Amino acid sequence: MHLHKFEKIWLIFGVGSLVLFLAIIGFGAFYKGTQPQSHMQTIDPNNVEAYEAFKPENLGLTKVDDNNYVINVVASAFNYDFGVNKEDKPVKEIKVPKGANVLFQITSKDVVHGFNIAGTNVNMMVEPGYISSLETKMNKPGIYTVVCNEYCGVGHHQMFAKVEVYE
Ligand code: CUA
Repeated sequence: MHLHKFEKIWLIFGVGSLVLFLAIIGFGAFYKGTQPQSHMQTIDPNNVEAYEAFKPENLGLTKVDDNNYVINVVASAFNYDFGVNKEDKPVKEIKVPKGANVLFQITSKDVVHGFNIAGTNVNMMVEPGYISSLETKMNKPGIYTVVCNEYCGVGHHQMFAKVEVYE
């Protein structure tokens, strides 16, 4: 079979692109751990307290066992609610040890918010009526800023929090 020079070039280009794209997806999925959402969880945005994880006493950081933690957050304009500390003051900063396996569970009471831990791959859209969850390992020590990256109103730029990963 005779192939014209241009046909060969296009064939190599086409097959090459396919291989390149599959390699990129493979790199993302197997090396970087990027995954689509596994399932969808719904919640009544007017009554988030009815859901166990978002009861006021369950907000913020909870140690499950040795190296597993859960962080429950209720987002609303223009604040992330991590619950209160022993002095009954709102928790503004979450601290987890290096290497901790953390499950984030977040929902919104009002409008769409974002939950992005700058400098990590934790980046979620938080929609009223849904629970956004993501499990990750916090491997790099440092103080991270959590930012809302969905425009949610006049106080959008003031909506942030802190997560510290300590040695
Ligand atoms: Cu919340 Cu922007």
